[in-house]
Amino acid sequence: MKKNLFINGEWVHAESYSPLLSPYSGEVIAEVPAATLTEVEMALTAAYEARKTMAVMPSHQRARILENLAALLEQRSDEAAEIIALEAAKPLTTAKGEVDRTIQTYKFSAEEAKRIHGETIPVDAAPGGEGRVAYTVREPIGVIAAITPFNFPMNLVAHKVGPALASGNSVVLKPAAQTPLSSLFLAELLQEAGLPAGAFNVVTGSGRLIGEKLVTDERIQKISFTGSPSVGIGIRNKAGLKKVTLELGSNAAVIIDKGVDIDKIISRCVSGAFAFQGQVCISVQRVYVHEELYETFVEKFVAATQKLKLGDPLDPMTDVSALISPRDIERSLEWIEEAKQKGAIVATGGKSEGNILHPTVLLEVDPSQKVSCQEVFAPIVLINKFSTVDQAIELVNDSRYGLQAGIYTENIRTALMASQKLHVGGVIVNDIPTFRLDHMPYGGVKESGIGREGVKYAIEEMTEQKLVIFNQN
Ligand code: SIN
Repeated sequence: MKKNLFINGEWVHAESYSPLLSPYSGEVIAEVPAATLTEVEMALTAAYEARKTMAVMPSHQRARILENLAALLEQRSDEAAEIIALEAAKPLTTAKGEVDRTIQTYKFSAEEAKRIHGETIPVDAAPGGEGRVAYTVREPIGVIAAITPFNFPMNLVAHKVGPALASGNSVVLKPAAQTPLSSLFLAELLQEAGLPAGAFNVVTGSGRLIGEKLVTDERIQKISFTGSPSVGIGIRNKAGLKKVTLELGSNAAVIIDKGVDIDKIISRCVSGAFAFQGQVCISVQRVYVHEELYETFVEKFVAATQKLKLGDPLDPMTDVSALISPRDIERSLEWIEEAKQKGAIVATGGKSEGNILHPTVLLEVDPSQKVSCQEVFAPIVLINKFSTVDQAIELVNDSRYGLQAGIYTENIRTALMASQKLHVGGVIVNDIPTFRLDHMPYGGVKESGIGREGVKYAIEEMTEQKLVIFNQN
């Protein structure tokens, strides 16, 4: 099935096309356009022009377009989930969950469109301010470049496109090379939802070529990127005075304190480690268990892991499917091997079958190993023991990353202490770090990024505050 670029409200042919392969079967699933600089330029020109229309569009109309979009997505939700399952090898049930969240994200965006406001400033609080009235308004910043990853090809796109349109901006979207189909599907829906031509453009193809142009072009006012730290840091370095939001990686951890009822949390922890093959920024990668519970926890966790069903992402019974690329299988196996050389024990998994890496549980992993200190982005989890919660917190914080962390404890003092000491963007008490609702602030510290998403928070970063002062003297 041949796809085209979406520029200025039209489907545009590209000079060349590349085959898009299913990560699971390796079969060609589409022919995808490879945009050249000419087409990126067309998208930028269209978005730059459309920013004027968007900036004067009343908020009820922006909200209506986003409501229409959510309704259309609801009507076509099965098709949307199949697209995600096919291009990302996301198991169908998980893909359906992503579509449901995407609908929510656009609904939240529609609601937030109607409550973007500034504040009044009590200017007489400073001598010289008497007889003046001051207030702020929030204005759209113009054209936003959205550069998105493969792991949530609909909802992480929604987290950029929803707030951008809600706040009256226009968008040029560069989706991940592995998952362009979800974004082209979105273009179709947005057109039907009544978005003016040029307000949303999709350019697919080489990340390097398109990304470089978007990051350096002076018509772009903001870059919203989700992806790897190395690319994110490169963007930041080249972006000059543009606003930048970066959602980067993590090696998220959960602490399990003594006294916790393990039977109640095992299946939740297993799903946090292996949902979508661990290719989630807040996947459970490191589990630290109190020494009193360690052996029982490991035994139950491994038994539950071995029950997971591996297979075709389109089979509704599948829990774990293919990694996004064969290169990631190779890398994962290398990292496992390296950890074994340093004394790690493979409790289950540690091998691949086709493009699927078996869910892998490692024990006694040295913190210097890549499976512990780098973002693994694969179905690999380590379980180590601790004797005091302070020690566990130190282990969690001993990381270049800091996105979210979880702690299970029955002790309120321990929970409060951990929430203060954990150096992350979000602490989840009595749950795994793999918890996100689409209106909550989401983002990290250290190499996990800068800025926050979550519709309201993204809108703050996509608007500029303007001050107005009336002199009544
Ligand atoms: C991510 O991988 O950063 C997104 C996680 C989510 O939205 O659940």
